[in-house]
Amino acid sequence: MMAGQHNVSDADLEHFMETILELVKETGEIIANAIGTSGNMEIDEKEQNIGEGNASAILTETDLKVEKHLINGLKSKYPDHQFIGEESTGDSGPELGDSPTWIIDPIDGTMNFVHSNPLVCTSVGLTVNKKLVLGVVHCPLIDKVYTAIKGKGAFCNGKSIKTSGVKDIGKAMMIMELPAGANKEKKDIAMENLKYMMDNAHAIRCPGPAAMDIAWIGAGSADAYFHQGIHSWDMAGGTIIVKEAGGTVLGTDGGEFDLMSRGVIVAASNELASQVVKFIKLYPSPRDQFTPVHPL
Ligand code: IPD
Ligand code: CA
Repeated sequence: MMAGQHNVSDADLEHFMETILELVKETGEIIANAIGTSGNMEIDEKEQNIGEGNASAILTETDLKVEKHLINGLKSKYPDHQFIGEESTGDSGPELGDSPTWIIDPIDGTMNFVHSNPLVCTSVGLTVNKKLVLGVVHCPLIDKVYTAIKGKGAFCNGKSIKTSGVKDIGKAMMIMELPAGANKEKKDIAMENLKYMMDNAHAIRCPGPAAMDIAWIGAGSADAYFHQGIHSWDMAGGTIIVKEAGGTVLGTDGGEFDLMSRGVIVAASNELASQVVKFIKLYPSPRDQFTPVHPL
């Protein structure tokens, strides 16, 4: 191990998993109690995100409450751990370092949440030495928790999951998102991708949110997902789940996945991922941080 690097044992990882599962159970209740009440009212618009589309720009008091609960709970047990949280640090926090770092999206799917749609999740990834070692995507309203520890496989509600293994787009259920309210360039690019898939895929779904979409590829509930414009906290939890479920995780340029690149392709197989690389058109987005992070 290089100087400054951190060592965590299997027992540590199991302890971290137990802790975060307890905490997301608690925040799942906060989310479930708030949906359909004043707690799911939009309280702010993130101005810098407006051109990216309506889904990227909204905020509720429950997002803030859940993130605080998770960070306080983790800090009380692991005071030397670091945090990247959508609502606390955003992308203006310090660059990801080697210390154990929890990358948190308290409510992924705030747009679904404000519409009382049950497809919302909490996404948490843990990096050590800049590698993902644990991921959790908890969808409290549909009662699913997707989990993975590096090298130990992926699970949904404690049962082992695998990707579908589908190799050909003609047999694939594809997931993408439709960026309502985005700038013209982003909408035009989404339309080109959608058109290609309508001509070539077996099925297309646009459920959102990103972290759940990614976890669903791991669970074999769909076959491929891609997105350019999301953040490290949307991808950290899900990508290790897909990897541990036997899936392929790439950057949107077809290269090695970079957690700070704002983009990802996840697929049930290498073959399907290569087909996605060939057709997708990309919307350019500024990186989360300058230095690349290859976490898998
Ligand atoms: C959003 C969701 C959505 C994606 C947006 C994200 P949020 O996150 O992941 O699926 O399309 O780009 O901003 O704001 O609900 O945490
Ligand atoms: Ca998010």
